[in-house]
Amino acid sequence: MRENILEITDLKAYYQILKGEIKAVDGVTFKVKRGEILGVAGESGCGKSTLAHTLIYRKPPLQYISGEVRLLGRELMQLSAEEFKEMRLKSISIIPQYALDAFSPTKKIKVFIADLVREHGIKFNKEFLAKVEARLAMLNLESSVLNRYSIELSGGMKQRIIMVISTLLDPDFIIADEITSALDVSSQRFAATMLANLRDEGIIGSAMFITHDISILYQIAERIMVMYAGQFAEIGPTDEMVKEPRHPYTKALIASLPQVGIQYQEQKLTGIKGTPPHLLNIGPGCRFRSRCSFSTGQCSKTPVREKVKDGHFVSCWHWQELGSDHNG
Ligand SMILES: Nc1ncnc2c1ncn2[C@@H]1O[C@H](COP(=O)(O)OP(=O)(O)O)[C@@H](O)[C@H]1O
Ligand SMILES: [Mg+2]
Repeated sequence: MRENILEITDLKAYYQILKGEIKAVDGVTFKVKRGEILGVAGESGCGKSTLAHTLIYRKPPLQYISGEVRLLGRELMQLSAEEFKEMRLKSISIIPQYALDAFSPTKKIKVFIADLVREHGIKFNKEFLAKVEARLAMLNLESSVLNRYSIELSGGMKQRIIMVISTLLDPDFIIADEITSALDVSSQRFAATMLANLRDEGIIGSAMFITHDISILYQIAERIMVMYAGQFAEIGPTDEMVKEPRHPYTKALIASLPQVGIQYQEQKLTGIKGTPPHLLNIGPGCRFRSRCSFSTGQCSKTPVREKVKDGHFVSCWHWQELGSDHNG
């Protein structure tokens, strides 16, 4: 058995605003094993970035409410700002969703990196420069980019530099939040492959790869977790999620992607009608129930997370009776 790098149990994190609480992460449970790339999928607004921010930086109005987050055995939510800063980039790191604007326009890339690692007591000496150059080369970048300003670089280049920087201190766990969405298709594939290479080289321990496009995950994710409207829906090995999805929402997600090449019982599934509920002061119950053709009165109670198989869990009252056919 591989060790768990991250163990999250019933995590809740809400945006506290004047009108009340936006329950963007509301009872999420999962584990990430060493060496694993976990894909996190779900449509826009389902809480993927909020989950990432809860683990890395909680800025008001986002507040941790309850639940456990153990990273390498340490309870992350209880750490002081100082203690967490120590872990940042080394134990846990993020490639943020809007990273392309992260660079200062007045600093050369080299200065930007030097300032960042100095906070970890690292000097940008010859030895460190050699490490940076080797990492740049891994991502097909010439070391001359270090002497350039961000405005001189293309989006794809900046994306790769951000990958280099966020993995420079060999983090045990890295979150990639929609890193590919701003890129063209070939750059997307490159970024995803690079992340897997960094894992294969042992540079990163494990990763959480967040995307609204589940099809990007087929090649790189060992397992996929699906979220819906802030709730955990399903997690399982990639192959099982694609071939034997259990949650009606996972089924709909998979079925909306014809390129998967699965034989559907009937060739009709027509996307998902309706929109997700508003998360402000939302009450109990399965949040998919208003869009789900299988919902019953029971679904107004929050579903319990149940085990399907080893490493495969689902939160749906009706998963057993529905089976794993794609059309429910
Ligand atoms: N700073 C914020 N203040 C209030 N609500 C927010 C804030 N950021 C995100 N939200 C809300 O939280 C929910 C989840 O958003 P987000 O985590 O960004 O979703 P995703 O990354 O899956 O697209 C959405 O309803 C969104 O409107
Ligand atoms: Mg997001």
